[in-house]
Amino acid sequence: MSRGFFITFEGLDGSGKSTQLAGLKAWLEARGESVTATRQPGGTHIGDGIRGLLLDSRTHDLSPLAELGLMFADRAQSIAEVIGPALERGDVVLCDRFTDSTEAYQGGGRQLGSRIVLDLHARLCGGLQPDLTFLLLPNLQRALQRARRRNARSDAEGSPGANENRFEREDQAFYRRVLNKYREIAARESGRVAVIEGDGSIDEVREQIAKLTEKRLRLRASHEKGRP
Ligand code: ADP
Ligand code: TYD
Repeated sequence: MSRGFFITFEGLDGSGKSTQLAGLKAWLEARGESVTATRQPGGTHIGDGIRGLLLDSRTHDLSPLAELGLMFADRAQSIAEVIGPALERGDVVLCDRFTDSTEAYQGGGRQLGSRIVLDLHARLCGGLQPDLTFLLLPNLQRALQRARRRNARSDAEGSPGANENRFEREDQAFYRRVLNKYREIAARESGRVAVIEGDGSIDEVREQIAKLTEKRLRLRASHEKGRP
């Protein structure tokens, strides 16, 4: 596959992923890069339907394995329809969550383990790996509070009954397991995953992310020059 550059954003709900993704998109576009931005679950017509089902707090009794299957159904569609073609075109692709989320939430949070997630990833996603992943790790309580506040705001603005709160209703123990699994992934894949710890301001984090991205893009350009 002739490749662009694939960057994913990971972290707990409310950790600032979408804010930082938008910031990096603007920064890359100002440098003249062609950018495709998407998110999971969602980002395709089929994926938006799956997202509704997965996140709506009115979805009861979804088994952990069914949840896992839906995350991968969404991802396979996103790769076929959005991510794959954009990488073929040579775009920088920015994705809000990818398979690390499934490993952290379903593997860790739901206690299905990493193995099944990595196996499904190999089979259903062709093992596609991001070139770079930003894992945002602000204080756990603060991040969850921010996500709840944001969702309460959008509930007040949106249609009655429809909301995206199903995961935010999980308890602290669930989020601790998610966080531990994220740390395990970061340690295992330290060449890919850049961990951004702490409670820096939006601008401080944005600057860190831009600097690292610039470094990685420069490295990629020098490798490409070296190719026959
Ligand atoms: P996520 O996509 O990870 O769920 P968001 O980017 O939607 O997180 O951020 C959740 C809320 O927190 C938003 O209201 C956003 O403005 C705010 N926020 C994001 N990053 C920071 C930060 N570094 N400091 C303070 N507030 C932040
Ligand atoms: P998202 O919209 O990114 O939520 P937030 O902006 O609050 O971080 O993701 C929705 C929820 O879906 C989030 O709670 C994490 C969960 N999720 C999984 O459990 N597994 C996955 O594979 C993905 C992509 C998301």
